[in-house]
Amino acid sequence: MLEVHDLHVRYGEIAATNGISLNVSNGEIVAVTGANGAGKSSTLNAVAGIVLPTSGSIRFDGQEMTARPSHECIRRGIVQVPEGRKIFGTLTVLENLQLGAYRLSSFQIDSAGIDEVLEQFPILADRLHEPASCLSGGQAQMLALARGLMAQPKLLLLDEPTLGLSPIAADDVFDLIRGLREIGLTILIVEQNVHQTLALADRAYVIEGGCVVLEGDACDVAGASGLTSAYLGMADQSERIWPSGRSSPEEQEIIKTRTAENRDIFQNGNRR
Ligand SMILES: Nc1ncnc2c1ncn2[C@@H]1O[C@H](COP(=O)(O)OP(=O)(O)OP(=O)(O)O)[C@@H](O)[C@H]1O
Ligand SMILES: [Mg+2]
Repeated sequence: MLEVHDLHVRYGEIAATNGISLNVSNGEIVAVTGANGAGKSSTLNAVAGIVLPTSGSIRFDGQEMTARPSHECIRRGIVQVPEGRKIFGTLTVLENLQLGAYRLSSFQIDSAGIDEVLEQFPILADRLHEPASCLSGGQAQMLALARGLMAQPKLLLLDEPTLGLSPIAADDVFDLIRGLREIGLTILIVEQNVHQTLALADRAYVIEGGCVVLEGDACDVAGASGLTSAYLGMADQSERIWPSGRSSPEEQEIIKTRTAENRDIFQNGNRR
């Protein structure tokens, strides 16, 4: 369904991804995990048409999608639930959901569509006419997911859906994602919550410094001896095989800084 090949994304001098290749088949949940600043969101944003890759290719359902604008990606069924949720606090829950239907060609507010989505989110059904700013973090994440579903995605891109949530709220989000797979949705999920995500996914890619350093069936990745070091950016650089075009001195400096940050995150339990 989705084929990403040798994806490079740059922000000025910063290389956010350095040749990432990944694929997602129909009906799969595929996880992308890795440390802070590894390039996960940049990968997802390129697939969603939000950032322009400098090179590489993105194909979806056999069609070339590289550098297509986000509205076209949405129209074709690639729908992203962004990092940080980005719901509109001053609008009601219902109005946020209605905005999610915007990709539908007539931009019709289809109450049957809303009812269908709400079946999976009873907590939102009870609060439809309240401002979204009144929701708890977990409820706001549910609203962001429900809004994404309103666009009738073929491929749902989830960027850190449990970030900042309590363990109980995070469990609810993971349960909901499992339910979405059961209704046949294809999902590419970016998460730092590595163990729960690998328990949920079919396959996984671990990214470090803009490169894929581990990939495979999620259960194999979960048991891989290199997972912790790759995830924390602590792999021995001299033993690593980097894709060509990688590792300018500036990039190595950035990696060293990230590695120090990631050790700190690890020791303190969470990054934010
Ligand atoms: N808009 C931007 N301008 C400049 N640099 C950016 C921008 N967005 C990301 N970067 C840099 O690109 C690199 C990859 O960032 P990205 O957000 O893709 O990582 P990530 O894996 O999603 O990290 P996080 O876990 O913090 O969300 C980082 O070094 C980051 O600082
Ligand atoms: Mg990110």
